Amino acid sequence: MISTDDLNNREFSFERTDFDSVRTRLYQLTGIRLADSKDSMVYSRLARRVRALRLQSFAEYLSHLQTHPDEEQHFINALTTNLTSFFREPHHFDILKKYLLAHPQTKTIWCTASSTGEEPYSIAMVVAETYGRFDVPIKIIASDIDSQVLQKAQAGIYAIEKINSLAEQRKKQFFYKGKGSATGLVKVVPELQKMVEFRQINLLNAQWPLRGPIDIIFCRNVMIYFDKETQLTLLERMVKLLPAKGLYIAGHSETFNHASHLVKPAGHTTYYPNHSVR
Ligand SMILES: C[S@@+](CC[C@H](N)C(=O)[O-])C[C@H]1O[C@@H](n2cnc3c(N)ncnc32)[C@H](O)[C@@H]1O
Repeated sequence: MISTDDLNNREFSFERTDFDSVRTRLYQLTGIRLADSKDSMVYSRLARRVRALRLQSFAEYLSHLQTHPDEEQHFINALTTNLTSFFREPHHFDILKKYLLAHPQTKTIWCTASSTGEEPYSIAMVVAETYGRFDVPIKIIASDIDSQVLQKAQAGIYAIEKINSLAEQRKKQFFYKGKGSATGLVKVVPELQKMVEFRQINLLNAQWPLRGPIDIIFCRNVMIYFDKETQLTLLERMVKLLPAKGLYIAGHSETFNHASHLVKPAGHTTYYPNHSVR
């Protein structure tokens, strides 16, 4: 809940109706459902856009958004939550390694909500380690709806603290340490960068610019922002891209045990496609 103090100190007027309009537009554009409690978050993230455009209120901003389609990307970038880290939920990377060893014919991996790149680069590190080289014939496609995080991902530059928890060998093999004005930063080595192809894809779009089969789909910590109906529609579309022995990897709070018509559990929020009822 927001306090009266917060409301009184606000630079721009932000009415309940403005919040509802933001939620509706965000849902239409991205499928993201914002809870009632997110009004302060919306205010602080979008106030920057209202200021940058020299507008006087959220009502003005919302009509600007309606008449300027080029503002939509800024609107989306401001409201997505991009929290991620290298080797987040590490058990999935052990599963990935085992899968690669058992399926040497693996050709394509899709990381569907790759945020700032830590997840697809972690996937690429495991692929490179498993094969003992960088030039592996596996395509790693990483996508996100947010153009800003994709730029950061493509640049592959991170604060050194982001790799604190990585084993020394991984730090040495996969990152350059910044010097001079780049002190405190690390950069992913170009060989690793080349393994990942970044693309902007809105999961809500009717068509994805991808062709199946895709052996492994990482779809972690993005479904939680969608409602149940959207989750099941997307899961069904992704399952269709997987071969019979493919793998769908979900985030820690995204269980699909209730969707047995689409997937079969493979352990640790990981699923096999269930193609038997097609
Ligand atoms: C919390 S991050 C998860 C990052 C990573 N998968 C992980 O688990 O660490 C969620 C990401 O989903 C992206 N996202 C939200 N809605 C999306 C949509 N409709 N299509 C594609 N990406 C979306 C956001 O931009 C954000 O980068």
